[in-house]
Amino acid sequence: MLYNESLRQKKELLLTKDGSWTLYSKEFEQAYHSTKEGALRESLQKHVIPAFTLHPSQESYTILDICFGLGYNTLATFYYLQTYLPQTKVHIFSPEFDYQLIKSIATFDYPKEFDTLEPIIRSLSQNLYYKDERYTIEILYGDARQSIPKITQKIDIVYQDAFSPKQNPMLWTREYFRDIRTICNDEVILTTYSIAIATRMGLYENGFLIHIYEGEDARHSTIATLERIEGLKYVDMELKKSRNPEAKSLSDSDFIDF
Ligand SMILES: C[S@@+](CC[C@H](N)C(=O)[O-])C[C@H]1O[C@@H](n2cnc3c(N)ncnc32)[C@H](O)[C@@H]1O
Repeated sequence: MLYNESLRQKKELLLTKDGSWTLYSKEFEQAYHSTKEGALRESLQKHVIPAFTLHPSQESYTILDICFGLGYNTLATFYYLQTYLPQTKVHIFSPEFDYQLIKSIATFDYPKEFDTLEPIIRSLSQNLYYKDERYTIEILYGDARQSIPKITQKIDIVYQDAFSPKQNPMLWTREYFRDIRTICNDEVILTTYSIAIATRMGLYENGFLIHIYEGEDARHSTIATLERIEGLKYVDMELKKSRNPEAKSLSDSDFIDF
């Protein structure tokens, strides 16, 4: 069984290393964030900072935040923009199939860095939507595998932050990355904490080039792009494949019968 809805509402609160709170999911038997790095720190160091420092500067960005969860990546994006890029506009699409979790964010104990974002949090929890002059956020309620192919806007930044490939494989297969590739701009930056060879193969098979990112006080993570990024360590996937002929990407057919 890929998902177990009877366990979806079973979660525990966890305090993480930087003092921010996250949840532990009994359904996926995994925490929503790294407790050793910290929820806020992980969002900033593995997703938001690399995305905005590596992407060529633009007046506005369209972001795919997979999946919304507690919304740390979306909220950390606004915290970062308010601090460093106050004129920049963003439109965020964020799939999520846990309706009760979205509803509950209104009362979640977020770090003080998100204090000014309270109206955004309240609106998302009530309407799964927020809009003002510079920011638009749409939570796409339902299975990400169905909502992602329906997105018609081209994506500049992808935060690939699903539960791990072992616990949530349908959000790491080559067919899933193909759907993501289809809706990306040529200058896209995809960020993910996963450094697994199967993840990198799935991305590479869809035309993404693989780089290693070393955040401040954070474990290595992966940056995937369609063009080489100077100054980042490049992973030669042809060499990896020749050294490890058994390595392969995940495929939908490994997990579901067609
Ligand atoms: C690791 S958490 C995301 C954490 C989030 N980025 C944050 O910063 O709080 C993964 C999320 O994916 C959601 N999820 C898992 N499989 C999904 C699917 N097929 N479609 C939509 N949401 C899914 C889970 O409900 C969970 O909220």
